[in-house]
Amino acid sequence: MRKIRIAIVGVGNCASSLVQGINFYEGSSRNGAAVGLMHRQIGGYRPSDVEVVAAFDIDRRKVGLDVSRAIFSPPNCTKVFCEQIKLTGAIVKMGCVLDGYPPHMHDQDPLRTFLPLEKETTREDIIAELKNSSAELMVNYLPVGSEQATRFYAGCALEAGLGFVNNIPVFIASDPAWAKRFADKNLPLIGDDIKAQVGATIVHRAMVDLFRKRGVCAAIRPRQAMAFAQRCDREQSPALRPIDRLVLGLIGMGVIFASLGLGEAVYRFAFLDFDRSD
Ligand SMILES: NC(=O)c1ccc[n+]([C@@H]2O[C@H](COP(=O)([O-])OP(=O)(O)OC[C@H]3O[C@@H](n4cnc5c(N)ncnc54)[C@H](O)[C@@H]3O)[C@@H](O)[C@H]2O)c1
Repeated sequence: MRKIRIAIVGVGNCASSLVQGINFYEGSSRNGAAVGLMHRQIGGYRPSDVEVVAAFDIDRRKVGLDVSRAIFSPPNCTKVFCEQIKLTGAIVKMGCVLDGYPPHMHDQDPLRTFLPLEKETTREDIIAELKNSSAELMVNYLPVGSEQATRFYAGCALEAGLGFVNNIPVFIASDPAWAKRFADKNLPLIGDDIKAQVGATIVHRAMVDLFRKRGVCAAIRPRQAMAFAQRCDREQSPALRPIDRLVLGLIGMGVIFASLGLGEAVYRFAFLDFDRSD
């Protein structure tokens, strides 16, 4: 199998898990144990068939480092399950900040926020870097809420002739206009958003599914569920309205009370509340 060459945008915690995973599963045989993976291979490709050839970030503690080192730089704080990471040869390049560094992240503890370099790169330089790296796919791991930045990098990918895997909840693949732009160039476009192995999104979806199967929550429509999951994802944002905090609290209570057989009522109430506030 030849390699799938990727360019990462946003060398944060998700990128760290991806790069660690590529290294961790390198030795796993085609039919052997691969604890932690949902699929050992997809279309014949295994984790080790993914090669990082380019990366962009804005944090001065990451730009200039090989991706294998940048993934362990602050403020990244995800679990380290593979310490022996081979050098990728891909040096993290400065990107364009746009809305990737929102005002509420300024003046925070450096271990909890980004420290952007002052001098940004130009769009032309990013496109040139993508072309020189021979990357085939751009993998977007920008922070949640990076709407402008996601559109900016998706545009760079298009111009450089790369497919785009959008791992964040900004509508690109789901937007017919963007989908057409990629289709017109015969470039793959996948998204929007990903699910952590056992994170808020999959727990939420499992609960909705459970309630549906048990004959409740018939009023929840997919669009509402999706919008709600995205709002949960912005839990840390100070822009979260008090009503959102209330709903999140109720969902948390729903999870706890579910084990007592009382979850339905709380969950239902939360969604009714969400309907009114949207
Ligand atoms: N963690 C999960 O389980 C999960 C699940 C679903 C979706 N997601 C989405 O994945 C995305 C990434 O999550 P994360 O936990 O890795 O975030 P993170 O905050 O750890 O990493 C984001 C990285 O992007 C960089 N960045 C910010 N602005 C940039 C710009 N303009 N150009 C280039 N780089 C920029 C930051 O410096 C940082 O390194 C988020 O949008 C999140 O919603 C994560």
